Amino acid sequence: MRPDGTARAGFPPSSACVAIDASLLDLLSASWARLRTAIPESARLGASWDELSTAFVEHVDGAAAAHAGVLWIPMVLDGRDVEVAGIHAVCTAAAHRKQGLARRVLERAMTHALARTQTVVLHANDPAIYGRFGFRALPQTVWWRDVSVARAPAMRKLSSDDANDVAIVHAAFAGRVPVSTRVGVREAAGLFVLDEVLACDRFARLWVMGDVVVAADLEERVLQIYDVVGPRWPALDEIVAASPGRVDRVEVFFAPDRWPAHAWQTRPMQSPDVLMAVGPFSSADAIAVPPLARC
Ligand SMILES: CC(C)(COP(=O)(O)OP(=O)(O)OC[C@H]1O[C@@H](n2cnc3c(N)ncnc32)[C@H](O)[C@@H]1OP(=O)(O)O)[C@@H](O)C(=O)NCCC(=O)NCCS
Repeated sequence: MRPDGTARAGFPPSSACVAIDASLLDLLSASWARLRTAIPESARLGASWDELSTAFVEHVDGAAAAHAGVLWIPMVLDGRDVEVAGIHAVCTAAAHRKQGLARRVLERAMTHALARTQTVVLHANDPAIYGRFGFRALPQTVWWRDVSVARAPAMRKLSSDDANDVAIVHAAFAGRVPVSTRVGVREAAGLFVLDEVLACDRFARLWVMGDVVVAADLEERVLQIYDVVGPRWPALDEIVAASPGRVDRVEVFFAPDRWPAHAWQTRPMQSPDVLMAVGPFSSADAIAVPPLARC
């Protein structure tokens, strides 16, 4: 950001939006209704589905009938930079299920992914499907601790209706510090924006604190921190002090190894989706993929 707080150039203007093929959008929206609006809204905010995801599609009578997408997540796993492939939006039109179409698109997607990386992940709401494709489930963890920190001026909530705020989010990824060396994410602004829009329709959990963007929710004095994006790593107390209200407990949805001074407790992450992987992943016992880097 510039010293006056305005964002530097880099947020793509709306003319850079790429429209997704109508037949594919119909197919995807039939399984996940909110994609019909989330895909164009994300594109408006500089996160074009078409640019993020390579689509593998089977057609029947000229219409898209099955889809598996592959997107790339620049991660840090056990201290190493790794390009991880993420399989997402696997679906078959209801009229064409149980005919092997999902298997066909998944096999094409896996071949594409494994040509470039050894590590492929997905988040499955139906994990039973993916074992036969070599995926194993990776339980995720939430870290928590009680806190007591004096309040400081609060961070500002970001709005996806404000082009300057959208630019702040994109700019925070330039040279960002990955949240963890165990399982961290590098410069993946598009996926972050897409995930926020998929979850909330708009920016609803994003705050700015100087040059750092914090993704968090505060409910009943529990601050849930989903991600921290910026060129420096803030102290936990700095985030807690700048929270939009009193905080008695912090829950962190990524390994908090950059906050080693704190004594953390853990609990299993309750999530409707199961993280699954093929190939090497972090060897740590307790892991989590930051929620705004999910594929
Ligand atoms: C899940 C879905 C993609 C399967 O599509 P499909 O074209 O019917 O699947 P296929 O016929 O290609 O089956 C592929 C393999 O998965 C298996 N499979 C399919 N659905 C399954 C299920 N619900 N549970 C377990 N295994 C399943 C099939 O038996 C087949 O295995 P095989 O080739 O070893 O015999 C489809 O039901 C769908 O679109 N569901 C709604 C969207 C969704 O839930 N997507 C998955 C997100 S995790």
